[in-house]
Amino acid sequence: MADQDSKVGHNYCLDVPPASQGFFLKGMDHTDWGMKNRLARIFNPKSGHTVMLAFDHGYIMGSTAGLERLDIVIPPLADDVDVLMGTRGALRAAVPPTCDKAVALRCSAGSSVLDEDMSHEVIGVNVEDAIRMNAACMAIQTFIGAPGQKSSIQNLCNTIDAGNRYGIPTLGVIAVGKEMERTAKYFLLATRMVAEFGAQIIKTYYCDEFEKITSACPVPIVIAGGKKVAENEALAMCFRAIQEGAAGVDMGRNIFQSENPRAMVKAVAKIVHENATDKEAYDLYLSLKLSPKNALQPRVKTKTK
Ligand code: R5P
Repeated sequence: MADQDSKVGHNYCLDVPPASQGFFLKGMDHTDWGMKNRLARIFNPKSGHTVMLAFDHGYIMGSTAGLERLDIVIPPLADDVDVLMGTRGALRAAVPPTCDKAVALRCSAGSSVLDEDMSHEVIGVNVEDAIRMNAACMAIQTFIGAPGQKSSIQNLCNTIDAGNRYGIPTLGVIAVGKEMERTAKYFLLATRMVAEFGAQIIKTYYCDEFEKITSACPVPIVIAGGKKVAENEALAMCFRAIQEGAAGVDMGRNIFQSENPRAMVKAVAKIVHENATDKEAYDLYLSLKLSPKNALQPRVKTKTK
């Protein structure tokens, strides 16, 4: 009978206020539960930051130095990152589906390094395939100030609308193309525009006065690594970006083209998640790079009976 339940009345904890449901990422308080759940797979809730490993270069560059064999290079790096950022072709072919890392799926396509003007892209992956790939976010490139600006904004907005229907965040990638600026003035304009269109995460490049860009951008920003530089320089850039408000990195060439990619990815993670200085991270890199277990070894074929 219903009134027998009164003996467990103390379980209602009438004197305990309801748990606060605040969310740790800026600008994301009013998104839906599924969107937040995916964002919490991308960004570590403890540090509030993310290490994304970018290996989507093939979609414009073809076989890129360091990524000739995705199946050998990418899986050993996955343990130390939060997110794998790649194309669906690379992910399906080279990353085992047992891998539990969040996926940032490259969803724009349509230009190549052979093009004079690379700013004309299309949506190359629809939201249904992103769901099939269990994507934690969809990455779309925008070309603010370039001839393809309008269509790239259309690609972005269509993807944000589709992602909002299913609770999948969109990562707005700020392209710099061949001739485009890499100044604070340009990134202030482009990051703010893309955030106001509704992208939940922005990827841009590090530049002078970076703290102005992170301050004026209402959602988390991650930085691309750019062309390969010496390991200590890449770590110094990473450290400055985090100090100046970046929520993480989406780094490719400075990891997979490193002399020791496994040591480098651990050093990057130390800055991003553990607040280490670039000096501490570089010392870690130097100590780890000597260890044979951090060398990327081609898989040895085993004999089958
Ligand atoms: C940019 O859109 C590219 O596809 C890469 O994802 C990006 O540039 C990050 O890679 P990297 O650190 O090599 O610049």
